[in-house]
Amino acid sequence: MQIFSTQTDLVSFLNPFYDKKSTIGFVPTMGALHKGHLSLLETALQNNEIVVISIFVNPTQFNNHEDLKKYPRTLEEDVKKIKSISEEIIIYAPTVDDIYKGKTISQHFNFDGLENQMEGKFRMGHFDGVGTIVKQLFEIIKPTNAYFGEKDFQQLQIVKKLVSKYKIPVKIIGCPIFREPNGLAMSSRNERLSSTERKEASIIFKTITHAKKLFKSKSAKEVTNWVKNEFSKYPKFELEYFEIADEEKLLPCIRKNKSKNYRAFIAVFVNNIRLIDTISLK
Ligand code: PAF
Repeated sequence: MQIFSTQTDLVSFLNPFYDKKSTIGFVPTMGALHKGHLSLLETALQNNEIVVISIFVNPTQFNNHEDLKKYPRTLEEDVKKIKSISEEIIIYAPTVDDIYKGKTISQHFNFDGLENQMEGKFRMGHFDGVGTIVKQLFEIIKPTNAYFGEKDFQQLQIVKKLVSKYKIPVKIIGCPIFREPNGLAMSSRNERLSSTERKEASIIFKTITHAKKLFKSKSAKEVTNWVKNEFSKYPKFELEYFEIADEEKLLPCIRKNKSKNYRAFIAVFVNNIRLIDTISLK
């Protein structure tokens, strides 16, 4: 099992594979791996000659210091989980200094407005941080294909925009959300929920699933009002936003347009832990 903590060592290991023009599948993560991440690795293994995973809690994408501090860091367990899938997977687990070289700041990006919707409204600078780390990881690893979960659908669209704007030669592949048996979208943050909170958090998926049904006959505004009213019944769950937006530009749906694909997006706080989810309304 190859584990690298510096980009110099990683790149010298990868050099012969570039020479052979091997296909490289890349799965960027912040660790605390769950089944969703492991399924991204499985997909990458099926479609590439070599697979690299990065494990790096990227400080510049956190707008909340407490969230960064409490983000689970479980490298030893992560390595075991990766090993259980394949010993061939290459792990890059850098330090903050290896990435930021003493200057832990983001580059500023224009993602044609995608960055100003939903998560962008509530997490200032978040997508600059994501853009900075993802661009840098692509430059270091030079993958053929990179795999991202659809739970962070806005991030997925932003990464697609990043590679098209900067002409980065990598194919971005979105992979379906993995859910716990009660419907809760898998997330590293779920680790911080108590077992009761984890059970009760099933209302997030239940609500967006019902919203999907309602959207067949009701307007986006009516559905949004219904969701707000539902959450007012569960004081433990604080709804940050619920929005119905088109998948391409992520603009809120004011009036339904048959040529657009819509999606519902939700962010909820449970005991200061922020959970997001999304569902296609097609
Ligand atoms: O989705 C994540 O885990 C992170 O935002 C990513 C893409 C690994 C960048 O830090």
